[in-house]
Amino acid sequence: MKPATPPSRTRSTSQIIAAHDQHMIVNLPRYGIAMVRGCGCELEDADGKRYLDLFAGFGAPILGHCHPDLVEAITDQANKLWHVGNLLHTEPQTRAAEAISRCSFGGRVYFCHSGADANEAAIKLARLYGKAHPGRSNPAEGGRFRVVSATRSFHGRSFATMGATGNPAVRQGFEPLLPGYVNVAYNSIEAVREQLDDQTVAVIVEPIQGEGGVNVPDDSYLPALRALCDERDLLLIVDEVWTGCGRTGKWFGHQHWPVTPDIMTLGKGVGGGLAVGAMVAGPRAADLFDVRKTSLVKHATTLGGNCLSMAVTAAIFQVIERDGLLDHTRRLGSLAIERINAAAADTPGLVGARGKGLFIGVQLDPQAGWFEKAGDVVARCLERGLLIGSAGNDVLRLAPPLTITEAELDRGLDQLVEILGSAQ
Ligand SMILES: Cc1ncc(COP(=O)(O)O)c(C=O)c1O
Repeated sequence: MKPATPPSRTRSTSQIIAAHDQHMIVNLPRYGIAMVRGCGCELEDADGKRYLDLFAGFGAPILGHCHPDLVEAITDQANKLWHVGNLLHTEPQTRAAEAISRCSFGGRVYFCHSGADANEAAIKLARLYGKAHPGRSNPAEGGRFRVVSATRSFHGRSFATMGATGNPAVRQGFEPLLPGYVNVAYNSIEAVREQLDDQTVAVIVEPIQGEGGVNVPDDSYLPALRALCDERDLLLIVDEVWTGCGRTGKWFGHQHWPVTPDIMTLGKGVGGGLAVGAMVAGPRAADLFDVRKTSLVKHATTLGGNCLSMAVTAAIFQVIERDGLLDHTRRLGSLAIERINAAAADTPGLVGARGKGLFIGVQLDPQAGWFEKAGDVVARCLERGLLIGSAGNDVLRLAPPLTITEAELDRGLDQLVEILGSAQ
């Protein structure tokens, strides 16, 4: 018998990385850092170095690392019940669904494991809707099944979501792809209208584009999309994987505008760092997955809505409400954007900031700065103990935990501005 592998906490960074390189599929370019501990907005690596986290694991640990209420929720639950399978009811799952439904548009919730998973469910639901409401489409050709999405969008890397993701690089090598997708310019209602045909059944859109660079649409965009979907009997799917659960200072990003979607998808923050995805559907669509009406099971997953994850999801909504984190997020987000815009005047390479709440894109001009691309800034920040993200070559992304204090955010922004300005 082989000797037991020593627990990772006893290993150095280089040992952890060497074992990773030997045993894991290296599907992502990782930084040479191994994190071992987190508390609030602070992380500590295997060498004892500390980092201020302004990116929160691509937005997932939305209340920071090891939030005491979430630790308590999962610990309590871990001592009670983990998973029983979805043919039985559990209280945590129902509580999590109630919270999401109450804070959104009163839709009904399906739980899964990731953002892509949630979008996959939404696209399947749209297909059922297109069959139930074929309009002028030819049922022999599949009825209505086409989905319109935006260029520079990100909706996942699964087969159904790759086509919706508005980045051809994501699809490269996976042909033949699932048919029925078209990507059109973001923030242009005309671009959507031009692509509608008798087969179109849904529009999927991020209320604010995340991976595309924190792109905030014009105020008229989402309401116009809603009107167009009503006019043409299309489902409006809002992908709130980045923008959901308070990230933008509202419970859900679309609530910045007078819009009610037919379907909303969640990931990242809804699990606080656990693998949770959710699809929320209003009455127009939800019934099509309802086994009481369809008699056949149309969609399901074994571990979706397991008790441990759901105890955490329900607690996230409670904490955000109890601690007034939506107001806090809006206030700190505005301060951060003002601060960065003010610094842009005398920081070469820094153009300015955009976003809502604590979902902030920092526009860079690599021609004017010391860096060739945004990733160079991220790497320099990491060297100095600041964790941020990037999108493409010229945007930095800030998405700290919603629990960040004003002092912590100030410290991080001071450091970022200093790094951008000092290294020319
Ligand atoms: C808007 C959006 N939708 C969906 C996804 C896919 O989520 P996941 O990585 O959890 O599958 C992402 C991931 O970044 C995303 O940003």
